[in-house]
Amino acid sequence: MRNFTCVKDIQNACGSLDAAVKEALAIKADRFAYSHLGKNKTLMMVFFNSSLRTRLSTQKAALNLGMNVIVLDINQGAWKLETERGVIMDGDRPEHILEAIPVMGSYCDVIGVRSFARFESKDDDYNEVILNQFIKYSGRPVFSMEAATGHPLQSFADLITIEEHKTVARPKVVLTWAPHPKALPQAVPNSFAEWMQAADYDFVITHPEGYELAPEFAGNARVEYDQMKAFEGADFVYAKNWAAYSGDNYGKILCTDRSWTVSERQMAVTNNAHFMHCLPVRRNMIVTDDVIESPRSLVIPEAANREISATVVLKKILENL
Ligand code: CP
Repeated sequence: MRNFTCVKDIQNACGSLDAAVKEALAIKADRFAYSHLGKNKTLMMVFFNSSLRTRLSTQKAALNLGMNVIVLDINQGAWKLETERGVIMDGDRPEHILEAIPVMGSYCDVIGVRSFARFESKDDDYNEVILNQFIKYSGRPVFSMEAATGHPLQSFADLITIEEHKTVARPKVVLTWAPHPKALPQAVPNSFAEWMQAADYDFVITHPEGYELAPEFAGNARVEYDQMKAFEGADFVYAKNWAAYSGDNYGKILCTDRSWTVSERQMAVTNNAHFMHCLPVRRNMIVTDDVIESPRSLVIPEAANREISATVVLKKILENL
């Protein structure tokens, strides 16, 4: 695998999504089985935004494979980067990303990039301008550690977690919008929708009107505006906030209705569903204390599976170097 930005990359690398999950479960059973693969290879992790899980789990994955790791936080200690070509650089950004990227590439073998949507330009965000510049100019394989429109390492970990806990072949999985005080990108729900449909689960998205995801990610998923109706019979409930995507509302908060906060009220109509969230989560905005602390909550196992999804992705990249 050269780059990893979406579900198709791992499907092509492993032959199918089923094969990718099987490989993940085998690695989970023996996570140091390929510790020779990354010998004398260096992973550079570049963060334009904060992280706890991605930072730690991806480093751990690289260590599992015997790699060296360099971490760069662009906003802490590095030169501020200009990202637009053609600007007169007379402001507070002394380095251009078009020099910085190939320089970073010269110090490593693989690059992971975290770069959230900025909500300044929908076109820039949905064209993945930052991630694609790394792919184009670094000369190295690049993988997304959450970009503007997707978070595939998270969705792969979510898929592994569902496969470990499902009791029927084709579980009902519900992605629900929940309220949040800040406008958040659509990366996690976009990827989750993409991966759940690739897995061919019974997949439903529920959100207030106006929060429709981009069509290329929503695909053919059923959208149900009545949250209680969507939750009926669900085996897995995946909560996440996101800002509006459509039209002039891109990046805006349209709804603050706290009745969408996932509580025992909604969980009561499910099929004793597992609760999932990618974390970090704002308790009693997204989900109540009772639900996230219940025995049906999978938030810790899915975070732990981030190490596994990252190990599979790095293994596939290393095998292709
Ligand atoms: N879920 C996730 O990506 O967490 P971090 O933002 O802490 O990396």
